[in-house]
Amino acid sequence: MKSDMEKILISEEEIQKKVKELGAILAEEYKDKNPLLVGVLKGGLPFMADLIKAMEIYLEIDFMDVSSYGNETTSSGEVKILKDLDTNVEGRHVLFVEDIIDTGRTLAYLKDMFKYRKAASVKIVTLLDKPSGRAVDMTVDWIGFEVPHEFVVGYGLDFAERYRNLPYIGILKPEIYQ
Ligand code: XMP
Ligand code: MG
Repeated sequence: MKSDMEKILISEEEIQKKVKELGAILAEEYKDKNPLLVGVLKGGLPFMADLIKAMEIYLEIDFMDVSSYGNETTSSGEVKILKDLDTNVEGRHVLFVEDIIDTGRTLAYLKDMFKYRKAASVKIVTLLDKPSGRAVDMTVDWIGFEVPHEFVVGYGLDFAERYRNLPYIGILKPEIYQ
């Protein structure tokens, strides 16, 4: 697997350190709010799993599955809800847990939807941010790392469903795409 990588952008150690820092900040922010952390499948899963272990407060988790990308490396610009929450969000403090914000369309859409559903607050934590890809104006409340305008894999992020299980973030060799 490591041999498929052109470059490792963020090491496992760097990710784990950052997740613990974010967990401490978020625990302080949400300690009296019984927040609902909403993981966006499938990419947000490793980050969600590590983040909640770094937050020693009362909290709940749930998951949504949305699609904006197929097995391709560019955005289709379309947001489709594949799996909705099992939880009623009215009056709840919702924190979206995402792997990466690129165009921002997915989270802008979900944020609006949750305001419509009368959540008490809707905020976003993302491990990665690709600010160069932004197509809509959107506030991201907490960001782990900024990444360059390249397709990245690992720690939840895939290429054709592979590489989600890598503990680090990397860029694939061009020949892997062919
Ligand atoms: P937006 O709506 O912000 O979409 O454009 C964010 C979603 O797009 C996917 N995405 C990526 N997936 N490597 C990936 O494996 C990338 O470099 C990448 N950039 C965006 C991802 O699913 C994210 O949730
Ligand atoms: Mg995703």
